[in-house]
Amino acid sequence: MDGLFISLEGVDGAGKSSHLDWLGNWFRQRGHRVRMSREPGGTPVGERLRDIVLHADMHVETEALIMFAARREHLDRVIRPALAAGEVVISDRFTDASFAYQCGGRGLAEARMQTLEDWVQQGLQPHLTLLFDISPEVAAARLRNVREADRFERERMDFHVRVRDAYLRRAQAHPRRIQVIDAGTDLQGVRRQLERTLTRFLETRA
Ligand code: TYD
Repeated sequence: MDGLFISLEGVDGAGKSSHLDWLGNWFRQRGHRVRMSREPGGTPVGERLRDIVLHADMHVETEALIMFAARREHLDRVIRPALAAGEVVISDRFTDASFAYQCGGRGLAEARMQTLEDWVQQGLQPHLTLLFDISPEVAAARLRNVREADRFERERMDFHVRVRDAYLRRAQAHPRRIQVIDAGTDLQGVRRQLERTLTRFLETRA
């Protein structure tokens, strides 16, 4: 596989969506073909599962299984073929979100999630994960009035605090893959960090 797999993560309201187009263009300007995608979703089946999991109440294990059902489809139809074709895949969220939200936020045992990850990914991991880190209070203020909130965005503050802590623990456990971006600064400040991180990333792979 010659392509590059990049995932974007962070609590709701961290602002990663504001940088999606910029990130895609950054790689295109350097001659890469880019495939933008998202989770849950990214395929016709995945998008239908997204609609269910973002809006219907369910057991946390059901939630985790749906995330991985959508992910299985995403890997098979989008991620693996694009990587095989040498493209840069940029996915708005991937498995770190399952560890952060279903394990950190909702308390599902990490061993359960690990089993699903091993089964579905067969060792495939993003080459780089950009973790947009921000205090959940600031993130919540940004989200207010944006649009109708989904099940995760409606959770209480302590849920979002646990999600953030789980993300930061994962960044500590995977310090090479997961690069933490301080998303509490202004747009230009975030761009500068992204630029630095991406440049270093491409240099280490050259
Ligand atoms: P998000 O990516 O924030 O999209 P939008 O910007 O349109 O709201 O929404 C996806 C939600 O799904 C987000 O709240 C996190 C949640 N999620 C999980 O709980 N587990 C997962 O494995 C994934 C991929 C997402």
